[in-house]
Amino acid sequence: MSLKNSVARYTGVAIALHWLIALLIISLLVVGKFMTSLDEADPLRFSLTQWHKSFGITILLLTVARIIWRLSHKPPALPDTIRGWQKFSSGLTHFLLYFLMLGLPISGWIMVSASPLNISTILFEVIPLPHLPLLASMANKAQISELFHEVHAISSGIMIALLLLHIGAALMHQFVHRDLVMERMAPHWKSKETKEGLGLIAGCIGAVLLGLFLINEIRMHQDVTPTVTATSGQNQAEAKSIRSQVNFKLVLMGEDIKGTFAESTVMLNLDMDNPADSSLSATVKTANANTSNPQINDSLPGSDWFNVAQHPEANFVSTEMEMTSETSWLVTGDLTIRETTKPVNFTLNLDPQNNAAKGAFTINRLDYAVGAVEQADDSIAGFNVEIEFDFPLE
Ligand code: HEM
Repeated sequence: MSLKNSVARYTGVAIALHWLIALLIISLLVVGKFMTSLDEADPLRFSLTQWHKSFGITILLLTVARIIWRLSHKPPALPDTIRGWQKFSSGLTHFLLYFLMLGLPISGWIMVSASPLNISTILFEVIPLPHLPLLASMANKAQISELFHEVHAISSGIMIALLLLHIGAALMHQFVHRDLVMERMAPHWKSKETKEGLGLIAGCIGAVLLGLFLINEIRMHQDVTPTVTATSGQNQAEAKSIRSQVNFKLVLMGEDIKGTFAESTVMLNLDMDNPADSSLSATVKTANANTSNPQINDSLPGSDWFNVAQHPEANFVSTEMEMTSETSWLVTGDLTIRETTKPVNFTLNLDPQNNAAKGAFTINRLDYAVGAVEQADDSIAGFNVEIEFDFPLE
């Protein structure tokens, strides 16, 4: 029997998990350092961070599986040539590596859970990852998020140092001492154990991918096309429901984000003979504000943005309407969002040919305490929000 075959080896599952996690951790360290070197407003930074979070949580789950496997399957004994201090230092390095394999993803999870930006995590764009409990509602969450940002960055530096030590020691065993220590963890592609380990992990990944695919399919079928209704009429008593649209636009992470409210009601009473008696009012349901970005959709109902639980509606009520031409009106009124009321004005344009009315105005979201108000600058979330609406006239 060759020396190689006689060495006690880790199980196929332990070997497969070791190399899979190693590959993922090294990739995430590289991606993490690269993405944080990009400008905060760069859209690439935003999308890389979303993938980073998905793979980071995958590492957390694989690490838990690996620790359970390790506790239930005794590792093979080290060769007799290994001295006591070497056993101690390798044991300590392995312990610290396991500690960081759990600590790094958990610190990242705490960082995003406490972040005042309240950007939700949707693993691989399919499975929503909840924020860790309590953090999102804490008064000093911005400081907690900042602290764990530091912990995450410092831990990643320690992880790089430990990996260099770990890889250096393995190479030393292989090429200097030639003591077959590395052989215990080397994949033997043709061996039964490695094939079993790889098969098991490929099966698990396949099952997870299938699950993700199915969940995505179900979600796609559940997605309802947003319908927005408006009510208009010559006077409010005659008002009846018709379809309409209220859109908003703002810059998030350097990207133009367009959204629509899934439900709104408009009441229009135009009195051509006595324009001053005209009125316009609108109510927008703040829940289900819909953009093309699922992360942002998840964040908008939260306490930092619309706080849907406490403020389910935003309202506009006109205080003055001036007819400037047959097809245009100057509307002044009060807009209330999150119980803050501010005056706004806009031109309401009538399009008799298409039997429609439309208008647009811009607000500063900070005036209504919407969005990460602690964020002093607008590099992540722009202050200006453009609102435009249109609805048919009956
Ligand atoms: C073993 C898993 C992970 C590794 C190796 C890792 C590594 C890194 C690294 C090297 C950085 C750059 C740090 C810096 O120099 O500023 C980083 C940033 C970041 N990580 Fe992780 N990470 C992991 C897991 C996670 C998880 C699970 C999450 C969240 C659920 C996460 C969220 C973040 C975020 C949001 C940033 C960017 C912070 C910023 O934009 O400034 N990470 N990560």
